[in-house]
Amino acid sequence: MDTRPIGIIDSGLGGLTGLQALRALLPEEDLIFFGDTGRMPYGGRPKEQLRRMGQQNLDFMAGFDVKAIFVACGTLSSTAADLLDRYPIPCFGVLHASVEAMAQIPGEGPLAVIATQASIDSGAFARALKARCPGREILSIPCPAFVPLIESGHTAPDDIPLRDAIEEYLGPVRRAGAQGLLYGCTHYGIVDEAVRAYLGPSVRTVSASACGAAQLRDYLVREGLTGGGSGGERFFTSGYPAVFERAAVRLLGRPLGSPVEALPVWSV
Ligand code: DGL
Repeated sequence: MDTRPIGIIDSGLGGLTGLQALRALLPEEDLIFFGDTGRMPYGGRPKEQLRRMGQQNLDFMAGFDVKAIFVACGTLSSTAADLLDRYPIPCFGVLHASVEAMAQIPGEGPLAVIATQASIDSGAFARALKARCPGREILSIPCPAFVPLIESGHTAPDDIPLRDAIEEYLGPVRRAGAQGLLYGCTHYGIVDEAVRAYLGPSVRTVSASACGAAQLRDYLVREGLTGGGSGGERFFTSGYPAVFERAAVRLLGRPLGSPVEALPVWSV
């Protein structure tokens, strides 16, 4: 048993889908969440900047003596994978577990990954999918408008700007007859209903957040590190706490239990 909390980081709401998934799997753990909304979106930033930001975020979490860090962010998982691997605290991104889930989708037809521009440009998701599923065509598509839309509340399946963006980005996925779609950005699962309405029921969707959370739970259970917490949660943001809180309450469908704590925006 290890009573220390678990840290969770992302640029914003996407990480909360990771928190939600982890909370469902581990109700007693204490969780500390950092949403870097002051520097969001991450997806349009150059790799070197993202790596510096990733390091700052990990070091912030390390200050809480966490037993593990869930990097519930596809952008950091794909552009700073080596930082996560060699960090002195066990860090879990969302790339490997979600690619593994995609590899379980039966058939020989195309598979698609959608993620932020930085994640797609890194090639990390496409490479990992190709290595795991060498015989299948892999479509790899950036969706830069999704995160700003989602963060500003455009998530309903009948939302017109969201539907326009879905048609633009996912037209090729539908035309290719893809059998699986990976949300390589943790924000994207929030609009799963709208995406599925467009692609139809034959396309399996895989959430990077849910896969990463399950991988972290498996690790903690295997190592005997679960238990001892009280289900507590602390929330930090580098943005405007009231805005973060409103969005988080809407997403989680419950009050946060503790006031959102503000952080300065670190320079990059
Ligand atoms: N949710 C993050 C990801 O999974 C970051 C999105 C963004 O800030 O652009 O990539």
